[in-house]
Amino acid sequence: MKHISLSNYGKIPALGLGTWKSNKNQVNNAVKKALTLGYRHIDCAPAYDNENEVGEAISYAIEKGVANREDLWITSKLWNNAHAPEDVEPALKKTLKDLHLDYLDLYLIHWPVVVRPDIYFPRGGEDLIPLSEVPTLETWQAMEACVGKGLIQQIGVCNFSIKKLGELVETSTIKPVVNQVELHPYLQQNEMLSYCKKNHIALTAYSPLGSADRPKRLKKANEPALLTNPKIAEIAEKHSKTPGQILLSWGLQRGTVVIPKSVNPGRLKENLTTAELSLKLDEADMTAIAELDLGYRYVDGSFWTTPGSPYTMEELWDE
Ligand SMILES: NC(=O)c1ccc[n+]([C@@H]2O[C@H](COP(=O)([O-])OP(=O)(O)OC[C@H]3O[C@@H](n4cnc5c(N)ncnc54)[C@H](OP(=O)(O)O)[C@@H]3O)[C@@H](O)[C@H]2O)c1
Repeated sequence: MKHISLSNYGKIPALGLGTWKSNKNQVNNAVKKALTLGYRHIDCAPAYDNENEVGEAISYAIEKGVANREDLWITSKLWNNAHAPEDVEPALKKTLKDLHLDYLDLYLIHWPVVVRPDIYFPRGGEDLIPLSEVPTLETWQAMEACVGKGLIQQIGVCNFSIKKLGELVETSTIKPVVNQVELHPYLQQNEMLSYCKKNHIALTAYSPLGSADRPKRLKKANEPALLTNPKIAEIAEKHSKTPGQILLSWGLQRGTVVIPKSVNPGRLKENLTTAELSLKLDEADMTAIAELDLGYRYVDGSFWTTPGSPYTMEELWDE
């Protein structure tokens, strides 16, 4: 398995297993199967409402000798209602308890968005608090303190624009090692990729296959389908691979980490094989895929910008 080196020390497996939308009944078997196949990186979050089931699978695999804890890379995320500095460590400890772990390899701020502490998912704009009232740097400093206590090895962010990432890089003591963002051929994130390379920040691609299993309420009408794109299908045929393998190979070849979600044993294997094969897309393939960029977000964050919210799409993405 290819790894991506991090700025301070350590290296992250370049392919991990996503767990958003993997329901409680499926995720335990999916994680056990993944670890047995050879996955060593699992992407989790309390907001996925399945950390306990993921944790049971991880501890089962460790007990059975399938993997050692030190060979695993487990990521989780700080939810938006726990950004107040005093709420960070309790939120982290809840995640550690659910995942049956005593430390995380990576802890990420899930969104640059703050929700009232007594609410999980906002019911309306009034449940959101502006970032100016709970500055990201204060949340970050509480995460830095958890690194000092040995509860987390590395810290980073998700869904941060270059502007927000730059502010954190300039003001933090421990620099963010990862930004996890939506990234696929319809949203190629070229500027973000250059910024991250220049600043030695690893870029993790979420929804690398187009996140087709999102609930209807999170989908827009006439979304472009990624896995059935004719150009991707053509390149897949040329290399005798599946469209999914081409999408993942493209992400890996650009030096990003990819975290496809699957609960299907065949697709779990197919996705892992992609990272093990190191398929080389040629210049013509890369040029053709570069032309597919639409700047299109499947997970566009508009759910944070409902009427009455202090957040707007422009401020969220700084675009
Ligand atoms: N930080 C954030 O804000 C954030 C946001 C979104 C996602 N994420 C993370 O990124 C992970 C991946 O993103 P995602 O879940 O949105 O979507 P995704 O990985 O792009 O797509 C998942 C969908 O693709 C299917 N699939 C998996 N492998 C396939 C293959 N080889 N061929 C065809 N279909 C395949 C899955 O079905 P089966 O399960 O049936 O195989 C599922 O329907 C998440 O699970 C989560 O861990 C993070």
